[in-house]
Amino acid sequence: MKRMFYVSRFSRPLSKRDIEQIHGSAVRFNSQHGVTGILVCLGDTFFQVLEGKRAIINQLYHTRIVPDNRHFDVICLKSESGVSQRMFPEWDMRVFDLNDEAEALPMAFRQMLSALLESNYMIAQYTQPSILKMLENGVNPTTVKPRKKHVTVLFSDIIGFSQFAERLNPDDLIDLVNRHAQICIEQVDKNSGQVNKLLGDGVLTYFTDRGTDAALEAATGILKEMERQRRSARDGSPHQLLFAGVGLANGVAYEGNVGSELKRDFTILGNTVNQASRLESLTRRLNLRIIMSEAVVERASPSRNFISLGRHKLIGQSAAMEIFSLKSFAPLNIEKLYAQIDEMLSRS
Ligand SMILES: Cc1cc2nc3c(=O)[nH]c(=O)nc-3n(C[C@H](O)[C@H](O)[C@H](O)COP(=O)(O)O)c2cc1C
Repeated sequence: MKRMFYVSRFSRPLSKRDIEQIHGSAVRFNSQHGVTGILVCLGDTFFQVLEGKRAIINQLYHTRIVPDNRHFDVICLKSESGVSQRMFPEWDMRVFDLNDEAEALPMAFRQMLSALLESNYMIAQYTQPSILKMLENGVNPTTVKPRKKHVTVLFSDIIGFSQFAERLNPDDLIDLVNRHAQICIEQVDKNSGQVNKLLGDGVLTYFTDRGTDAALEAATGILKEMERQRRSARDGSPHQLLFAGVGLANGVAYEGNVGSELKRDFTILGNTVNQASRLESLTRRLNLRIIMSEAVVERASPSRNFISLGRHKLIGQSAAMEIFSLKSFAPLNIEKLYAQIDEMLSRS
């Protein structure tokens, strides 16, 4: 059996009748499918414990509970597999409305629970989706053993960032960095990739081995969306000159926990990650927006219009390798772009 704990927020003020309706349909489904648990309401937050057969709990959570538009921000706090005994064998779904029971619970306990939920939402926003997924599947991320994986790494970085960083005010600078990160995250997520890390103005992401085409799709999506947003930016805004360089590499990487108890990252590292970063840097020298390694081209579907850039020896690599770009993205005159950024910043 599986037991799952999650929290969520009301999407609008919910009346007693609303809660009764949720309770009614929950009991109907749960009693027929061997699900038991409790549902706690506190302020505008739900806290629910569900227990039952693993497949049923997964189906219930993903197809009935998460999509229910009476709540949102549904975050799984914990899930346990191989549960042999129910905590709530008698309750198809017992509701505790703590808002009604001011007397029943000491005030301090209620406040502690609220603070806990609040901090959980904040922490979840800083947590990479793959970690949240592990918690949902009952996996403790801190105990996951390091793994060797074949991946395609996509690294994107803002061109001319040092110029922006020197002269823009903090709000405008963070706004620019967020715009780039937002575009990358959306495109990578849309193509089933993992956003691994935000490194200042850079975004490190990766895709499974069979996801090379998806990685290329995300990369072209990032560049096209940036172009669209540059065109719609208001006159004189730094967003008019927001360009990124994208590097893609394919090969082996190591995935695991890195750091200490004070600061821990679940990350990928290895030569393929370094290659993607070096290829991204090379976009500046070769006046291009996207560069990929030979291994990426070998695994991608042949319909794409790759263009060979010849053999290059990247810093830190023992041998030269053939590298490629995409014909669909015209070369970019980097020196001219730097001069335009300079001029814009001196005007503002
Ligand atoms: C906070 C919350 C808890 C829920 N708990 C359950 C549950 O335990 N079991 C269930 O089948 N549905 C649960 N639901 C889902 C809805 O009650 C249900 O999907 C929706 O009302 C449609 O159900 P119906 O088709 O049976 O009317 C929950 C929804 C919310 C917002």
